[in-house]
Amino acid sequence: MKRLGILISGRGSNFEAIAGNVASGALPAEIAVVISNRTDARGLETALSRGLNAVCLPSKGLDREVYDRRLAAELHKHDVDLVCLAGFMRLLSAGFIREFPERILNIHPSLLPAFPGLDAQHQALAHGVKITGCTVHFVDEDLDAGPIVIQAAVPVRDDDTEETLSERILKQEHRIYSEAIGIVIAGKYRIDGRRVIFT
Ligand code: GAR
Repeated sequence: MKRLGILISGRGSNFEAIAGNVASGALPAEIAVVISNRTDARGLETALSRGLNAVCLPSKGLDREVYDRRLAAELHKHDVDLVCLAGFMRLLSAGFIREFPERILNIHPSLLPAFPGLDAQHQALAHGVKITGCTVHFVDEDLDAGPIVIQAAVPVRDDDTEETLSERILKQEHRIYSEAIGIVIAGKYRIDGRRVIFT
């Protein structure tokens, strides 16, 4: 069984969706550890209440390289095969990414390469796009830029606010993240340049 390391910074609803699929057997994996870089992350409570290993590794005030070395050590300690960023709001250093080559996934609330970075749903509304969505991608050294595993489209409604749009995108995030993890841990893909080809 492949071992997942889930990194969060806050609410942790993507983590919960993954944990639900692991618990039901829909996702054949184990959650080895949930790590938050913020002490007040609600997802940490959820992890504890599910009886999972929950680790708080505060990043505040720490140099990126120093923090990332601690983070990598914690993940290795739990023998993690795949790192899943689930609302982990920190850039990772090149050194960290080299520790887990093609073994880090991220979920982002837009159809990348549109609207990378913070407040993707706000960016989508401000730009006036009619369709946005979410993306699960491998993490490389550039922000929100690695090879794309799965995307889901979400139409923007005229009366959408950031909240209503975010809520509909989040439903799709919860669906595609587990699907993407399933494909990656089963090894049913190959990476060809920027393209992830399912095999
Ligand atoms: C999700 O919408 C996720 O896509 C986004 O943060 C939210 C976390 O929610 N991530 C990013 O914007 C990364 N650039 P959650 O803590 O409930 O999973």
